[in-house]
Amino acid sequence: MTEIILKKRQGQELSGAEINYFVQGYAGGEIPDYQAAALLMAVFFQGLSGAETAELTLAMAGSGRTIDLSAIPGVKVDKHSTGGVGDKTTLVLAPLAAAAGVPVAKLAGRGLGHTGGTIDKLAAIPGLQTELSIPAFIRQVKEIGVAIATQTRELVPADKKLYALRDVTATVDCLPLIASSIMSKKLAAGADAIVLDVKAGRGAFLPDREDARALARTMVAIGRRLGKATVALLTNMEQPLGRAVGNALEVREAIAALRGEGPADLEELCLALGAVMLVLAKKAADPGEAEEKLAGLLKNGQAWRKLKEMVVAQGGNPEVIENPDLLKVAERQEEITARTAGYVQAVDAKMIGQAAMLLGAGRQTREDQIDLAAGLVLHKKTGERVEAGEPLATLFVNRARYLEDAKKLVQDAYRIGADEPAPQPMILEVIS
Ligand code: URA
Repeated sequence: MTEIILKKRQGQELSGAEINYFVQGYAGGEIPDYQAAALLMAVFFQGLSGAETAELTLAMAGSGRTIDLSAIPGVKVDKHSTGGVGDKTTLVLAPLAAAAGVPVAKLAGRGLGHTGGTIDKLAAIPGLQTELSIPAFIRQVKEIGVAIATQTRELVPADKKLYALRDVTATVDCLPLIASSIMSKKLAAGADAIVLDVKAGRGAFLPDREDARALARTMVAIGRRLGKATVALLTNMEQPLGRAVGNALEVREAIAALRGEGPADLEELCLALGAVMLVLAKKAADPGEAEEKLAGLLKNGQAWRKLKEMVVAQGGNPEVIENPDLLKVAERQEEITARTAGYVQAVDAKMIGQAAMLLGAGRQTREDQIDLAAGLVLHKKTGERVEAGEPLATLFVNRARYLEDAKKLVQDAYRIGADEPAPQPMILEVIS
């Protein structure tokens, strides 16, 4: 291990065998934290080549259980988002792509920090189970074309251990380590092709567009080296996605989107990501044809019906999908109003995400209990006209402990000015 650390410290390329030795040894408890930490810091400063990054991804993916989806007919396409505020895309996209004939076997996680997790959002649907055994998960995808389950603990144990060490050694923000961490989990989850939604902007994990682009390119390159078709969309996360932030509120918005009545930015993103999924799964010849097909499935109710089927299959109450008013609503609602008239120049996604977290919609620490009904709804988004005194947002409150801080964050998140700002594109770039 000392030789491997020295080699990387000197900027030399590690072999696949050396990388494997490190990953298996660390996951197995034979290599101590201090040596792993030293290697991570050497990687942070010296970087990893494309070959090293692919080897690291492969070694991590192989550190635990891998899922074999070959029993499911068709091209299985996985989708991953680097995380954003109000990002309920999976709730819409999984049933939508399934309705178009793409089998979707989706493993998802819980949220931490100012971005939410799909599993938390699904918990807002009464009765819905996401702790599925792997055989039950595969059976459900074979039967109805879609399942969303909690990522099992046995998947990529090396990543769990390495991530915890990165967290306390200031080595999280290292592109090849982030890319291999994400891609190892996608690889272990067994899909044939991968669509990545890499977000850039205030609410993103990597706010800087150049950083986000570099991450997207690194992940697409890993996919190519490992023989998995991978396409990344670089997408806008300056302001929250859609209007709802918070678990039950986002489920309600996702149901509306599946009926073709969702906010325009959410629909645009879902159609763009879905189009890539359809093309990769050979269900459409090109993105234009794919988008048309998907838009039709939103309009004719088939995508919405697929969500209902999934909810029934996973033990949830389907009446909630028919009538979203049955979802939990917070006791109290507080309005934030505009102090001046003008056009909304920006709605800072990070500040909105933090406000939602303070209201109980997200976790500051892994142990925090989420309030499923808490969150907020934005009445105004970037580019919209507002008059003084008009509502900007409504806060949904059960726990008022940090309410004043949350209100201040929401008020400050809005920048209002005299001129109408130029429209911002949702899809910034396609990297394939
Ligand atoms: N998300 C991951 O899964 N891994 C990282 O390293 C960073 C973000």
